Amino acid sequence: MISLLQAARDARRHAHAPFSHFQVGAALETAAGRIFTGCNIENASYGLTLCAERVAVFKAMSEGERQFVRLALVADTAAPTPPCGACRQILWEFGGNLEIIVGNLEKETGRLWMKDLLPLPFDARLLKS
Ligand code: THU
Repeated sequence: MISLLQAARDARRHAHAPFSHFQVGAALETAAGRIFTGCNIENASYGLTLCAERVAVFKAMSEGERQFVRLALVADTAAPTPPCGACRQILWEFGGNLEIIVGNLEKETGRLWMKDLLPLPFDARLLKS
């Protein structure tokens, strides 16, 4: 079976990044083992850009998925590229303490946990207190 990192690399090929030229791919694995992929999609207003991670999360949720275990994230960088701040919020809210596997076109460059990337999160628990 294709690795999660390879699925993210394949998704990255669909990135639409004519402004930053920074192409990103993501692959999200559900508790049942399904894989949903995403790539970044930029647009002329810049601010409406969607990151690869959020595309993957929203694709999965729009198909009824709610339980996720890990996400792979790929960019063409030697150093590990972690999720941006906005994506950390979404990944935490909908995925909880996901494992994040980061990598580039050749290899894995790191493994991280969402609880470490977003140590004091704002989430729905606070809205109920
Ligand atoms: N980008 C992502 O897709 N994910 C991240 O976590 C970091 C940033 C995209 C957004 C934009 O299209 C480009 O990378 C440069 O910021």
